[in-house]
Amino acid sequence: MNIKFFDSQQQLDDFAAGIFMDLINNKPDAVLGLATGSTPIGLYKALVQGCKDNKVSFKEAYTFNLDEYSGVTPDNEQSYSYFMHQNLFNLVDLQADHIHLLDGTASDAEAECKSFEEKLAQKPLDIQLLGLGHNGHIAFNEPADNLSAQTHVVQLDEKTRQANARFFDSIDEVPTHAMTMGIGSIMKAKQILLMVRGADKAEIVKKALQGPITTQVPASLLQLHANVTVLLDQEAGRMLD
Ligand code: F6R
Repeated sequence: MNIKFFDSQQQLDDFAAGIFMDLINNKPDAVLGLATGSTPIGLYKALVQGCKDNKVSFKEAYTFNLDEYSGVTPDNEQSYSYFMHQNLFNLVDLQADHIHLLDGTASDAEAECKSFEEKLAQKPLDIQLLGLGHNGHIAFNEPADNLSAQTHVVQLDEKTRQANARFFDSIDEVPTHAMTMGIGSIMKAKQILLMVRGADKAEIVKKALQGPITTQVPASLLQLHANVTVLLDQEAGRMLD
């Protein structure tokens, strides 16, 4: 694992944006695995600016998003589809039919997950961006005795619902289920970029990067991937040896 520490959020975001821009400039039809949440917002801002400044073009690139809430329509402000369109897709020159998002309202959720996984198989991920949940989840692969390899429906952990309640009016509105890429889908990416910031993540960063590999800390499985870059601010990395 290649672990890098940054003194400011700006430096961390700019470094992450540099990785994406170098990849796309070398391979214009790169397949990008993307994440939502608070962590990547600055990165997406930097990519939007890079596109405006003609430093990068997404015209030929493809995207796959990690996850989506079940039962939430794409035009709902709480959906990950809405988040991605607001923060990136509507602001860069990406082609609409190159965007792959799970549909949380699909009438047959299993079929939706299967079809997503098939599309992923046809377009292997050149890079997968990840944030880290306080419980060690990556995407919505929650701590469990067993983890699913492929895209699947998952019941959200109470900790995850509480953490994400900040985006909703009340915890009762946070969906109980989601669709998520599986650990195997993520591990097949050629490169993984994990971004983590904040003192509240220091303990789980330590467990994920230097603790035992266990399905109870799904991010610890990243220790088995050959090409992982971890970008941390000083607070998130303060417990590392
Ligand atoms: C989001 C996702 C989640 C988040 C994680 C961290 O698509 O898959 O695993 O990356 O919950 O969220 P933030 O960045 O809000 O701390």
